[in-house]
Amino acid sequence: MKDLKILAVVVFFTLVTYWGVEPFAHSQMHKHVEGHNFTYPDIKASGLKGDPAKGKAAIAACTSCHGIKSQGIKAPMDAMAASAAYGVNPPDLSNVGALFDTKYLIAFLQNPAHAAKAKKMAMPAGMAGTAQGAADIVAYLKSIAPKEISPKEAFTTACGRCHADRYGKWTQIGDVPKTKGNIKTGNDVELTKFKMNVAKYQDKLADYMGKLPPDLSIIARARSEHYLKTFVEDPQAVLKGTAMPRVGLTKEGFEKVDAYLESTGDPSKAKREKTGPWVLGYFVIFTLLAYGWYKSQWKGLH
Ligand code: HEC
Ligand code: HEC
Repeated sequence: MKDLKILAVVVFFTLVTYWGVEPFAHSQMHKHVEGHNFTYPDIKASGLKGDPAKGKAAIAACTSCHGIKSQGIKAPMDAMAASAAYGVNPPDLSNVGALFDTKYLIAFLQNPAHAAKAKKMAMPAGMAGTAQGAADIVAYLKSIAPKEISPKEAFTTACGRCHADRYGKWTQIGDVPKTKGNIKTGNDVELTKFKMNVAKYQDKLADYMGKLPPDLSIIARARSEHYLKTFVEDPQAVLKGTAMPRVGLTKEGFEKVDAYLESTGDPSKAKREKTGPWVLGYFVIFTLLAYGWYKSQWKGLH
């Protein structure tokens, strides 16, 4: 009976440590912020109904900087030229109507820095004209947005111009090229040139943002999902003074980005979560067997 009591005490303190102390320490290290589930309550809905046909007619105001690949509109500059001009490469607009919140987009087109809560914003304000003009262009962007967007496309549109993802072989200027040259001996001219361009782009980006945005390969693992979610929804609410702008993703848009980060940062997570219960079951059975053996050994010795 004494053994059982000791066992109970050990189990009790293990569980207290596991569920009580660790999360408590964590909550002390990171301020807990309750998000708003990507509803952006600080932005008022304009109530204006956009006309996609009018938006389409006005889209030239945007394509002087942005490409819209799905509509056959190429970006006017490549990433290198764009970063030299603006500090950052304007994202392709093919998917933005599906990934970003409508209310946010309308507010962003009128005053980008304000909607993004950014100190500095390379995208000029008022590019869509009036509030009605903004609603029309957003209606057009929504009308051309595809129903299905892959996690990678979501990431490249929303984050990829600022963040590299080493494990996903993504850089701010695009995918690392698969070249035939020999990387080890360093005689791969194409790859070397690409790397030099990445460094140049990152230089301009760091000037624009005040610091180089971190590589996101391991961030998804290093930070909790709650942190990532609330940070992306409203960076200033979580990390006051941060240089990261609010990007205005919808909840579904964020889930796509999150899926991408998990797949590149922690590709074996799904498998691990599946095997977890089996491992625990094994420990329970093993403990019972060990206890039974222990009992049988001591039987009659007391
Ligand atoms: C002078 C160039 C320029 C013009 C014109 C321009 N943009 Fe931009 N846009 C940018 C740049 C640069 C960024 C990236 C800014 C950043 O990330 O700090 C950007 C970012 C965006 C984003 C991303 C927002 C987010 O939350 O991540 C959207 C959407 C967008 N622009 C839409 C438009 C639309 C629609 C128009 C036309 C009404 C337009 N832009 C006109 C330069 C431009
Ligand atoms: C216009 C550039 C820009 C875009 C777009 C952008 N970020 Fe960032 N991000 C930054 C900068 C700059 C920092 C560094 C902030 C700091 O240290 O204050 C940062 C930091 C981060 C961090 C680290 C936060 C921490 O606790 O250290 C995470 C996570 C992150 N970004 C995720 C994202 C995700 C996910 C997206 C896309 C949904 C995204 N970012 C889009 C510029 C950007």
